[in-house]
Amino acid sequence: VASPDNHSSKRYRNPELNDEIEKVVSSLKLNYEQLKHIMHCLEEEMNAGLSSETHKQATVKMFPSFVRHIPDGTERGQVLALDLGGTNFRVLSIKLRRNSHIELTSKIFLVPQSVMIGDGKRLFRHLAECLAEFMEKEHLSQSGICYPLGFTFSFPCKQESLASARLTTWTKGFSCAGVINEDVVKLLQDAIDEKGINVKCAALVNDTIGTLMACAYKEPATSIGLILGTGTNACYIEDLDKVGTWNGDHDEPKQVIINMEWGAFGDNGCLNHIRTKYDEEVDLSSINPGQQTFEKMISGMYMGEIVRLIILDLLQRELLFLGHRDTYGDYKTPIYNRGGFYTKFVSTVETDEGIKFSNTRRVLEDIGIRNPTFDDCVIVQHICRQVSKRAARLAGAGLAVLINRMGKPTVTIGVDGSLYRYHPRFKRNMERSMEGLVNKDLKFKFALSDDGSGKGAALVACVAAHNAPEVLT
Ligand code: GLC
Repeated sequence: VASPDNHSSKRYRNPELNDEIEKVVSSLKLNYEQLKHIMHCLEEEMNAGLSSETHKQATVKMFPSFVRHIPDGTERGQVLALDLGGTNFRVLSIKLRRNSHIELTSKIFLVPQSVMIGDGKRLFRHLAECLAEFMEKEHLSQSGICYPLGFTFSFPCKQESLASARLTTWTKGFSCAGVINEDVVKLLQDAIDEKGINVKCAALVNDTIGTLMACAYKEPATSIGLILGTGTNACYIEDLDKVGTWNGDHDEPKQVIINMEWGAFGDNGCLNHIRTKYDEEVDLSSINPGQQTFEKMISGMYMGEIVRLIILDLLQRELLFLGHRDTYGDYKTPIYNRGGFYTKFVSTVETDEGIKFSNTRRVLEDIGIRNPTFDDCVIVQHICRQVSKRAARLAGAGLAVLINRMGKPTVTIGVDGSLYRYHPRFKRNMERSMEGLVNKDLKFKFALSDDGSGKGAALVACVAAHNAPEVLT
């Protein structure tokens, strides 16, 4: 069976397509030297974020999380958690039992678009209302018990303690008025108190931290938390003496988990040499132009859009969908509209092996291309593969910096997010790129974290609250 990827010189039945398509695709390729250079730049930006002299101007903020210990399995009690920051908002009730056993119930709530970009007060009122509804349903509101709550808030925050954190900027399509520079824990607590529910927010954590904590609960070698979902970010365990911005205590262990906010890497232009015109377009039409450069080249919120822009460019240059000239200029076809090619389509297209392209054909039909030709399918799959491979290699380079820097002989990376979960090759591509970039004597592995960000927030809140209600049943 002809495998399209192994025959790049005569990939298409129409050989004239080769050169033009390859020109576009090659702008997405990253070689070893480029990745090494990116790693070097990232480490410089990290050091700038950690130093008190340069932190203010730094793009990679490297926020200390105030989480100093990984869980040790002795955490017990019943805790609530809120998880806000991806496509879904979740409320969770978590029972921490003996032997690292966790019991969890949760409910997903929608955050309407109007709330995502509306007034901040309304957002927090909405969160408190969902929490109240959930507690009512789970019979937690009548008991007279005050439950501690862990708040996973997956946006860049300058943390002042475990339970106070100021939002520095919104990311991922959120933009609520009156929240930037405010203490997010206070805004939430005010809304909870106003609603009259008996809950005390004991800790705010980023989703990367939650993921690391939840994984470390099962596997103590976990020292990195990674999110590859709507957004992307990582956290890791850093030595306190490298954290110039640290102003908490210096008790043992002399370490703190750093929320890198690596999505902003490149916002000072240092990645411009690898960005394509499609990346620039994605950025310009986003609600936060000039921000989250690294994230926009990697994460699920943008990947489908990059693919769409490439497809659209090829279509407009009459290199694609030649049998469908009726779609040319038919602006109702989803391919013409922002968001018209979902990131989940990238995963679907890449699950096709061989030359039948049944999934790819289905996706193309979904976007209005009926009966695509063999070449159409090959080209679209080739584009998806290169865009997702570039993302995986960039994320892999970022992880390699952390693994080399920590220098631990074995590291487990706790990971969560829809892109990692559902994309058929992301993990493999990331691992492959890391194999060449991580120092030879260091070993790493990935551990998928189920419900990690919520569970991890609950673990942190449980320890912070000292007296979480006992698990009775
Ligand atoms: C965005 C947020 C960051 C979060 C990441 C993954 O980059 O700024 O806080 O961890 O998305 O959800």
